[in-house]
This record gives sequence, structure tokens and C-alpha cells, in this order.
Amino acid sequence: MQHPEPPIVNEHSLDRDCTTLSRHVLQQLSSFNPEAQDISAIMNRIALAAKLVSRRLSKAGLMAGALGFTGETNVQGESVKKMDIYANEVFISVFKQSGLVCRLASEEMEKPYYIPENCPVGRYTLLYDPIDGSSNVDINLNVGSIFSLRQQQGEDLDGEAQDLLQSGDRQIAAGYVLYGPSTVLVYSLGKGVHSFILDPSLGEFILAGENIKIPHHGPVYSVNEGNYWQWNESIREYIRYVHRHEGYTARYSGALVGDFHRILLQGGVFLYPGTVQKPEGKLRLLYESSPLAFLTEQAGGKASTGEQRILDVIPDKLHARTPLVIGSTKDVELVESFIQDWTRRQLETESVTVS
Ligand code: AHG
Ligand code: MN
Ligand code: MN
Repeated sequence: MQHPEPPIVNEHSLDRDCTTLSRHVLQQLSSFNPEAQDISAIMNRIALAAKLVSRRLSKAGLMAGALGFTGETNVQGESVKKMDIYANEVFISVFKQSGLVCRLASEEMEKPYYIPENCPVGRYTLLYDPIDGSSNVDINLNVGSIFSLRQQQGEDLDGEAQDLLQSGDRQIAAGYVLYGPSTVLVYSLGKGVHSFILDPSLGEFILAGENIKIPHHGPVYSVNEGNYWQWNESIREYIRYVHRHEGYTARYSGALVGDFHRILLQGGVFLYPGTVQKPEGKLRLLYESSPLAFLTEQAGGKASTGEQRILDVIPDKLHARTPLVIGSTKDVELVESFIQDWTRRQLETESVTVS
């Protein structure tokens, strides 16, 4: 009996190779209307920024003047790296004359960057952390970029961008790029969380994981334990708990995007609580905590300050910080239970002292 010829190409893998980021965005919005086209174009520009940053990172050690500090400090009071500035400018450059985004607000800029030629056509604002985990840059370890998209509310005539001081539920899209052994882009438009890997031979982000769900519980706790002496007793109690129970393992790279990506895929909890020196913690609500919280909830996990849902927090300024506890629901709730118990005990002690 004659067997049929095997297909020359595997249709499934060809389909997969053709599921690029821009095609996926349009599928997600199930529309080709002008708004869907805009969001797809914005995601394409973010992808271009990611490719430019990725290209620079892959060669930085061989280039003069790509690594190290600039000697400046940013609005956060942190030493700025040359790569922070490069990546910040990449995002500005890709959105100039795009007709897509009116304002860019970045961790590295005190005030938003306005692109008047895009207004009033582009009624969107992109908020971003151009290089997250910059302490890893000079030693060739993983870093990331984080982004968040909001619709501009009102005219912003005074240039104060007051409309950005609203809850994280206002985000239209959020995501990050992880520059690791491969460059991965993870995003959500509020319809699940999806990941793409940059295929350098095609120069395209190709779908890798659709509707990612964060495990309900995982073994990882990710925190800078060097801050133990600076934490509130409730966090110390939690850390002592995981030290004394089987089934926990510590992982901390000093770069939120990488640490978060591990937890998104494998479960666990990342925390950056308040410290004596930084009572609100270190992470910035609008550029770091809020976009990752948006992704986490979309993936079925939880993100909180320890006491309040991150997406409910209303910042009092553009560069506001919040404590962050994020990841698998069960693990975030365990941290929260230590905070609640401690607070309850404090109140009881206070009421006994008063009476
Ligand atoms: P950035 O490089 O954008 O300033 O962010 C660094 C952040 C975050 O990526 C990481 O989780 C955290 O800072 C590490 O802080 P510590 O060095 O205090 O642990
Ligand atoms: Mn960061
Ligand atoms: Mn940064």
C-alpha cells in the first residue's frame, strides 16, 4: 500500500511563526477599527524599542561608552547608568512623530516628555521604566523594561499630568521586556497575559505562551534579605516562618523583571516592603508595581502593598513608591496574614495600655 507523502512544511509550526506580536494584538482586540490599529501600532513601537535596547545590551561590553555610570543622579536620587539614558531615549525616539502617544512618563525623567506633534491625535500616555535592574547591566546579567499605557484624560494644559494620578485600573495595557538569554516580551490588554520571544533571525516577536496563569502557590520567595534589620516586625516574622518550614526556596537577582518572570511562570512571591530608610519601599507605583500588578491579576495572581490592592492605590505624585507583595495568590495572602496579625496585636496592646 502506498503511504501519502509527508507534508513539506509543518503547518502548525508555520502558523506559530506567523503569530507575531502585531497580529496577536489585533486578534486580541478582534477588530481593525482605528483604536485597535493604534494600540497595535503602539505595541509595535514598544517592540522596536525592545529590539534596539536588546541589540545595544548584547554588544555593550564591546562598545566604548555604553556601560557604567553617567555621574548624574535621577529624580529618585539614584545614580544613573549610561544604559538607563540610552534606553530612555530609545522610547522617546520611537514615539516621536508616530502620531500615537502624546506624553511619555519615565522613571528617569522628572516631568513627562510631551510630543506636541502627536496631539491631539495621540491621546495616549506611555509610562515606562526603561531599564529595570540597572545594577545588573555592567555584569551581563538579566535586566528588563516595564511599560504601561493609559488614555490621556483632559487637556493637561498646565503640563502637570495630574490625570496620571489615578488608580492602576486605568491602565489599557501593560507589560515588560526581559533581556535574558533570549529577549521575551510579556503583555496584557486586559484579556489575559501572553508572552513572545524575539527571533533574531526574523527580527520579530513570536508567540511563545498564551493566557499564562500564575500557579496558585509556588516555592519561591524573592526578597532582599539584607534589609532584614530595616523591616517591620511583621515581615521579619514572615521570613522566619519560611526559614523554618519545608518547601520554600529563595531567589533574588536584584532585577524585578527577571524575579517577577520566574514567579509568573513557576509561582511564589516577590516582596519589596518598606524599610527604615525607605518607608514606602523602593519600587515606583506607576512604572513598576502597577504594570506588574495588572499582569498579575490578569494571570490570576495577586498584588498588594501588604494591606491594599496595588491597583487601588492612588499615587500622590508621578514618582510615588509603594511597598509591593506580588505573585501567587496563596503566597501573597500568607505575607498579608503576617501583616494583619501584627497590626491586630499592636492595636490590642495599645488598647490595653490606654485602659
Ligand atoms: P531600577 O534599576 O529601575 O532602579 O530598579 C531596581 C529595582 C528592581 O529592579 C529590583 O527589584 C530592586 O530595585 C532591587 O533593589 P535592592 O538592590 O534594594 O534589592
Ligand atoms: Mn526598575
Ligand atoms: Mn530603571
